[in-house]
This record gives sequence, structure tokens and C-alpha cells, in this order.
Amino acid sequence: MAAQNNAPLPDGLEIAGYRIVKKIASGGFSIVYLAYDPEGNAVAIKEYLPSQLALRAPGELAPTVSKPNLPVFRIGLKCFFEEGRALARIVHPNVVRVVNFFRANETVYMVMAYESGHTLQDHIARLHAKGSRVNETALRQLFNGVCAGVREVHANKLLHLDLKPANIYLRSDGSPLLLDFGAARQTINIDAPMLAPMYTPGFAAPELYGKAAALGPWTDIYSIGAAMYACMTRTMPQPVEARKSEDKLEQQLAALAGSYSPELVDMVRACLDLDPLARPQSVFAMQKVLQAAPTVAPQDEEPAPAPGGWRGIAQRIGIKLG
Ligand SMILES: Nc1ncnc2c1ncn2[C@@H]1O[C@H](COP(=O)(O)OP(=O)(O)OP(=O)(O)O)[C@@H](O)[C@H]1O
Ligand SMILES: [Mg+2]
Repeated sequence: MAAQNNAPLPDGLEIAGYRIVKKIASGGFSIVYLAYDPEGNAVAIKEYLPSQLALRAPGELAPTVSKPNLPVFRIGLKCFFEEGRALARIVHPNVVRVVNFFRANETVYMVMAYESGHTLQDHIARLHAKGSRVNETALRQLFNGVCAGVREVHANKLLHLDLKPANIYLRSDGSPLLLDFGAARQTINIDAPMLAPMYTPGFAAPELYGKAAALGPWTDIYSIGAAMYACMTRTMPQPVEARKSEDKLEQQLAALAGSYSPELVDMVRACLDLDPLARPQSVFAMQKVLQAAPTVAPQDEEPAPAPGGWRGIAQRIGIKLG
């Protein structure tokens, strides 16, 4: 992700009835602030500010956008707005709650319920520092929640398209929450090829790289598999290009046998299939696997049997696929 070099809004600023407390995060496309609404509730406000198109010096409120950048800035603004509007329709415990959005300072702001916690990426790093990793039970519970959120997104005819540990947030009680929907960036990227790509290598499905390929729930399913892989191995999967020339996935997954049940490893393998049709075709089907009791106690068993494809896993744990 591109860095954000712009000055944040000053602490204490009042904007559309909200009081900015402080900046909590910034990325290439936006700055996120902790703020309070008029009733004193904590909110997170995300400000559209693509650093490659807009400049804001300290002390200024509205960013400066050069004339050649203006059309792309406006397309991105519209998409950011659309992202907010789409998200505002979704009310689900595993999807960030968008409560408002407004225009000010010649840009757009998305107001979300503030959630106290940290990203899955930070969680993996913390465990790694302790020489540990997300265990089978925690992984199943966590990704059952992630799948529930993604299922709701898909039920609303939307795709996330940027699922990765940095965009999965864990509340203090450990429940997961989807953040940061990538649709805005996708459109920016189509219209302005000079901008940084929206996808994240390692977590992005092959069809995200080609303009003609069809995107669908299977595209998010690849990324869910990649995020599970990251929890299990504490590294990200090889980017698609590298896999196409020398795919190390099999040997990497083989190393997990004994630490995780075979059906969990098999599910990650199926999700990460380069062929969209070979992946689980819905997050609901994945939830069934995640919710089933492990067929073996992971630590006590021999390495996983040879892969039998997605249907094979479903059969082994006794679920019917439509
Ligand atoms: N609702 C929220 N409550 C608390 N913190 C939040 C919330 N939304 C975002 N954050 C914080 O802001 C960080 C960045 O959020 P998000 O992933 O949405 O944006 P981003 O990656 O900076 O986006 P972009 O790539 O568009 O610049 C999160 O990791 C989290 O720390
Ligand atoms: Mg993010």
C-alpha cells in the first residue's frame, strides 16, 4: 500500500458535529480518526485522501488536487461514497457498522462505530513474537465469524475484494470484523493505471490480475484461504505470479500436517486453487467445515492423506454439497 504523506486533521477539530480526538491510522487512500459524535459516542471516521492524487499541508483542511488529477480524484470520491452507501445497508456483527457519511473539506468522510481491538495481522505478529500461532480451535472460530461476515456481504450482492489479515479486525472479545472494502480502489485503478494496484499480492486471487476474468464469491474465498494460511504459517502465501512459475504451496501445506486437522489444511488448499471452479463455491460450505468437529486430534495424528479435492473434504466430514 502507498504511504500517506498528508497532514491529518488537527486534534480537537469539530467537523459536521463530530469532534476529532486523534488520527488512529493512515493508508494510501485514507486517514482514519477516533472522534466523538454529539452524544459522546466514540466513532471512527475515515477520510478519503488518496495520497497520490491529493496534497494537504499541515494547517490546511481541504486537500489540493492538481487539475490533471481531478477527474480520477472525483471518480475515487464517488466510489468511496458508494462503498459507504453499500456498507451502510449491511448490519451484521462481523461487518464494520457504517453509521453516517458526509461531505466536508472538499472530500468525503465515512463514519463507523468505533471498535476497540487490533487487526488480525497484529495478532499474528504478536503470537509469532511469542513463538506461537493461531491454533485449530481459535482458527475455526475466527474464520467461522469471518465467513459469516463475508456471507452477508455476498448476500448483498457485494464482494469485498481486499480480504487479508490487515483488513480483519479483532474486537477485544476476539470476535472478527471485516473492515476496508476495496471496491473504491478497484475503480480508481481501472481508470488510472498509474495508481498503485488495489489488490494485495499473496492474498489476491489470480482473476484479480486480469481485466477480463470474472470476479465472484470465489475471489473472496481465495483471500479467506490466504488469510487462514497466514494464521497457520505466519507468512503470506506466494503471490500468484510466483506460484505460476514455481508453486510451493504443496510443500508448505505438508509442513502443517500434525499441527492442524487434515480437513482444515485441505480447505485452505482448495481455497487457494488457482482455478476458481476448484475452490469452495460459497462461504456457507466453508462454514460447515469450520463448524464440524475435527476428524482427528491434530497434534496426535500422522500427516494428512492425499488431497481429494473440495468434494472429498466435504464427503470425509459428512456434509452434502448442493
Ligand atoms: N471502525 C473502526 N474502529 C476502530 N478502528 C478502526 C475502525 N476502522 C478502521 N480502524 C483502524 O484504522 C485502520 C485502517 O482501517 P482500514 O483498513 O479501513 O483503512 P486503510 O487500510 O488505511 O485503508 P486504505 O487502504 O483505504 O487507505 C484499521 O487497521 C484500524 O486500526
Ligand atoms: Mg486496510
